[in-house]
Amino acid sequence: MHILIYGATSAIAHSIAKEYAIEKVHTFTLVGRSETRLNACKQELHVYGAVDIQTMLLDFSSIDDMKNVFHRCVQQRGGIDMAIVAQGSLTNQDKASYDMNYLAEEFSLNALSFIILSQIIVNHFNQHGSGILVGIGSVAGERGRKGNYAYGAAKSAVSTFLSGLRHANKNENIHIMTVKPGFVTTPMTLEMPQSFLFVKPEFVAKEIKRGVEQGIEQMYIPSFWRFIMMIIRSIPEALFKKMNI
Ligand SMILES: NC(=O)c1ccc[n+]([C@@H]2O[C@H](COP(=O)([O-])OP(=O)(O)OC[C@H]3O[C@@H](n4cnc5c(N)ncnc54)[C@H](OP(=O)(O)O)[C@@H]3O)[C@@H](O)[C@H]2O)c1
Repeated sequence: MHILIYGATSAIAHSIAKEYAIEKVHTFTLVGRSETRLNACKQELHVYGAVDIQTMLLDFSSIDDMKNVFHRCVQQRGGIDMAIVAQGSLTNQDKASYDMNYLAEEFSLNALSFIILSQIIVNHFNQHGSGILVGIGSVAGERGRKGNYAYGAAKSAVSTFLSGLRHANKNENIHIMTVKPGFVTTPMTLEMPQSFLFVKPEFVAKEIKRGVEQGIEQMYIPSFWRFIMMIIRSIPEALFKKMNI
């Protein structure tokens, strides 16, 4: 299987790559913005058993670059069996409320780059008749909260877009999975106070691999978030506004 990973330097994506690397049969294309960090991931995946790994640099703010890098990848590797879209940034909500350029850049990375790449990938799967897309959303996309509504709105866009892609997709050999992790201990959450709700990226990776194997379409990780978010979504807006969550 040829696995293409956007945001391949992310702790979650790298853990997923390691899960597949140990099987020693897959080829990888790792896409990111930093050659140094991509090469570090590549070296580690070699240690885990992967042999054929290519890295590609991408400017996630450029639609042309997204299209060009994808087409170069297809030309060089002959097709994609599984794509993982994992780039993301935990938007600083305070800054995003007064710095509109920052707000736009963050939304562009967390939502626009995500949905454009997803559409490009699924178009390719449709041409080839099969493929697996794993998109990493978040429980933060389920309801706007005062502490992170810029990030949450972007993740909500990702989730709605992937849901629409699934609805539009008539080919049962194309699997589109939306992953909604809760809190994961990664560089993204380093500054947040850790709690019992945090899980490790290795756990998330194992769950995602299980989801792929079982053809799951929407996955909360850990699964208890499904119930937490069901309750949070059901709180009336008038009451929610008064809550300090
Ligand atoms: N950690 C959590 O609690 C959590 C929860 C739910 C969902 N998620 C989602 O899971 C995915 C992976 O996150 P993670 O927790 O593994 O975080 P991470 O280790 O901090 O990885 C973030 C990834 O996004 C890339 N990135 C950040 N800003 C970028 C920019 N401006 N341009 C291009 N690439 C950029 C990083 O590239 P560099 O290595 O070059 O910086 C890295 O590959 C994200 O989509 C995130 O929203 C995370």
